[in-house]
Amino acid sequence: MKTALITGASSGIGAAFARELAACQTDLILVARSQDKLQRLAEQLQEKFQIRTEIILQDLTQTGAARSLYDAIAQKDGR
Ligand SMILES: NC(=O)c1ccc[n+]([C@@H]2O[C@H](COP(=O)([O-])OP(=O)(O)OC[C@H]3O[C@@H](n4cnc5c(N)ncnc54)[C@H](OP(=O)(O)O)[C@@H]3O)[C@@H](O)[C@H]2O)c1
Repeated sequence: MKTALITGASSGIGAAFARELAACQTDLILVARSQDKLQRLAEQLQEKFQIRTEIILQDLTQTGAARSLYDAIAQKDGR
């Protein structure tokens, strides 16, 4: 099963990508700052499409954010 990383996933075009990819049976790693919105979306998609979802809270404007995100994903998935 493929896994997609979607930044800006809590609303707008990012959430739309998440719904489309979930419908294609793609596991998702959803990134944004709003925990409630990400959690709600992840639960909805998990339940509806039987996929695996992870959420990562990250402010991508912070220095080192890309590295932190990379490290968090590598730690969770080992890849
Ligand atoms: N909508 C369109 O049709 C469209 C078309 C072409 C281009 N775009 C471009 O695509 C981008 C997104 O547009 P949108 O309409 O989807 O906007 P939106 O609904 O405001 O979504 C922005 C997303 O980015 C996240 N985000 C904002 N600041 C962040 C930060 N500092 N760190 C991490 N995540 C952050 C927000 O989540 P949190 O607030 O939870 O962090 C949210 O999930 C914009 O640059 C827009 O110009 C949009």
